[in-house]
Amino acid sequence: MEIKRVVTLTFSPTGGTRKAADAVARGVNAPERLDLDRTSFESRWAGAELREGDFAVIGMPVYYGRVPALLTEFFRLIEARDIPAALVVTYGNQNLGDALLELSDESAAHGFRPVAGAAFIARHSFTDKLGTGRPNDSDLALAVQFGQTAAQLVRSAPDLSALSLTVPGSFPYRPAMDLPIAPATDRSKCTGCMLCQQQCPVQAINPLDPAEIDAWRCLDCARCIQNCPAGAKAIAVPALREKIAVMEAVAAAPKAPELFYAN
Ligand SMILES: Cc1cc2nc3c(=O)[nH]c(=O)nc-3n(C[C@H](O)[C@H](O)[C@H](O)COP(=O)(O)O)c2cc1C
Ligand code: SF4
Ligand code: SF4
Repeated sequence: MEIKRVVTLTFSPTGGTRKAADAVARGVNAPERLDLDRTSFESRWAGAELREGDFAVIGMPVYYGRVPALLTEFFRLIEARDIPAALVVTYGNQNLGDALLELSDESAAHGFRPVAGAAFIARHSFTDKLGTGRPNDSDLALAVQFGQTAAQLVRSAPDLSALSLTVPGSFPYRPAMDLPIAPATDRSKCTGCMLCQQQCPVQAINPLDPAEIDAWRCLDCARCIQNCPAGAKAIAVPALREKIAVMEAVAAAPKAPELFYAN
């Protein structure tokens, strides 16, 4: 199949997945590019029709061994039929869990044909002591190569429907974690700039009071913590802070990316 356009379809609140997916897209080396970044709330109301000759790079982070619980919104209004796709997940050097399998299953259910899957390491959303500096230059070089190889597979396959991709993970997937652990705001530091409210991927922050977060709506994505110019937001729930400290102690040794191709 001739690849005429690479389409990146990503959700990346703290930017790690986006970096890896961009590198994969560079490796695909198609004449055209369409960027569908689905991180902002508004972006998930925009539709797009994918067409013959498109190759998709679909990227999501790993949340508690799953992909974030907004898959329906992520694929909403995206029309795809038999579009070959390279899947990318990033995780914070702890565990990949069932996320790549879940992304593969969901992509297939939404009209994509997964031909390759990759798990890259990125800075952990909750702490810079895990996945520090990742994806680094060598991760990104590997991501470019992964895109090249996945695209070559599609360009040379006589029959895409004969390809089958196997990725790690098991079904039923591990139970989703849905804890109401929204970040806390230090009102003495908050300047009221409203950046957090404008950038929250699920509109969980009250536009009249940026310290008020709907904990059930919040994905715990940490975007507001990382991007607050005043350093006013932080994880406050003691149980999660303790869990992070344990993770920092046991999951510090840098892990290697894993790549999978259909055959
Ligand atoms: C709610 C939440 C849960 C996470 N769960 C895991 C996990 O189970 N294993 C892991 O290694 N990293 C985990 N992480 C870290 C992210 O997978 C990692 O930082 C990812 O690269 C973030 O992607 P982004 O930068 O594109 O937002 C979690 C992060 C968040 C916010
Ligand atoms: S980004 Fe930070 S300083 Fe700005 S409104 Fe939000 S919490 Fe306050
Ligand atoms: S309020 Fe929750 S969902 Fe919104 S940016 Fe902050 S952590 Fe992410």
